[in-house]
Amino acid sequence: MSFKIPLFDLNFDEKEEAAVLEVLRSKWISTGPKCSQFESKFAAMLGANHALSLANCTIALHLAMVICGIEAEDEVICPSLTFVATVNAIRYVGAIPVFADVRSLEDLTIDPVDIESKITAKTKAIVVMHYGGFACDMDAILGIAQKYNLKVIEDACHAPLSEYHGKKLGTIGDVGCFSFFSNKNISTGEGGMLVTNNNELFERAKLLRSHGMTSMSYERAKGHSTEYDVVALGYNYRMDDIRAAIGIVQLDKLKADLEKRAIVREHYISNLSNCKNLIIPFQDYREFSSNYIFPIILKNGTKEKRDILRHQLANAGIQTSVHYPAVHRFNIYQQFNYSLQKTDYVTNCLITLPMYSSLPIDKVEFISNEIFGSL
Ligand SMILES: Cc1ncc(COP(=O)(O)O)c(C=O)c1O
Repeated sequence: MSFKIPLFDLNFDEKEEAAVLEVLRSKWISTGPKCSQFESKFAAMLGANHALSLANCTIALHLAMVICGIEAEDEVICPSLTFVATVNAIRYVGAIPVFADVRSLEDLTIDPVDIESKITAKTKAIVVMHYGGFACDMDAILGIAQKYNLKVIEDACHAPLSEYHGKKLGTIGDVGCFSFFSNKNISTGEGGMLVTNNNELFERAKLLRSHGMTSMSYERAKGHSTEYDVVALGYNYRMDDIRAAIGIVQLDKLKADLEKRAIVREHYISNLSNCKNLIIPFQDYREFSSNYIFPIILKNGTKEKRDILRHQLANAGIQTSVHYPAVHRFNIYQQFNYSLQKTDYVTNCLITLPMYSSLPIDKVEFISNEIFGSL
């Protein structure tokens, strides 16, 4: 079924096409100058010391675990209301995910009070996820991390250019991880970026990105080095120049794209805020946000009522989604046996509505009217 109004639409034009063509014609298509340029531009945009381009964000999260020294049987506190990759990365190093609840139905980020209550002698890190581009309570989380000597990894997949007290999300903890999957604010098909202000963590991540080799093909092709040693058990986690070239164009468009999304969000809020049966999370959020998604939550809802509404919207040609099915309820995570009251309610009663910069305002009104009519 193809929807009249999709959940997301790419912000692509002839600039991305030209950028890809330029790389193809340059005959250097793997990790090379475009990746370096993308990294410098990304780091500058965030005001971060370092950015490392990667094949996707899942492996950025894995690398973050490795460089932060997280090992088997360590405990890592994380949200359950996130994409499963946030938690899988903890499992890749054999560590134990300890799920914390969301703050409230209005603020779907991880709850610092619940984080602190779950700390044990085995806790080594906290992973936060800036849901929808809205910041976690980083002052409280950094305070806890300092008190218990924990690393903080930011899953900032939803949050390029989003801010917390004037700082860019993804640059506040030890390591920040971004995704450029096709439906993200910056789309390259697949792609990711690891960001850090720490030189040592960066050098370690860079080494592990490419098999633990002391030099890369591009450097050897340019005659900068002729030999290499392998000094660590690394991976092939590299991005390629074709995707990096798309990413560079996408970065140029990002600010304007996010400003248009903010307008879409304002229209949704003004249309839906007087609907008695709905909660609009982050409704009063005032800092700059990437507005990656637009979630709504049914009041006094159930999964059945939510699914009926989604079905009615689908019949009207409107694609919706659920961000997210809670991770602690997935089969492979049930062994950790968590009950998270607020996350359970949210995951049953939340719907994400179409959100992208070119979504016309009359379509926002159409969607809002359909919701009003169905509730
Ligand atoms: C919150 C979150 N974390 C991690 C990921 C994984 O990113 P990727 O698809 O680039 O591996 C995604 C993207 O889908 C995400 O939304």
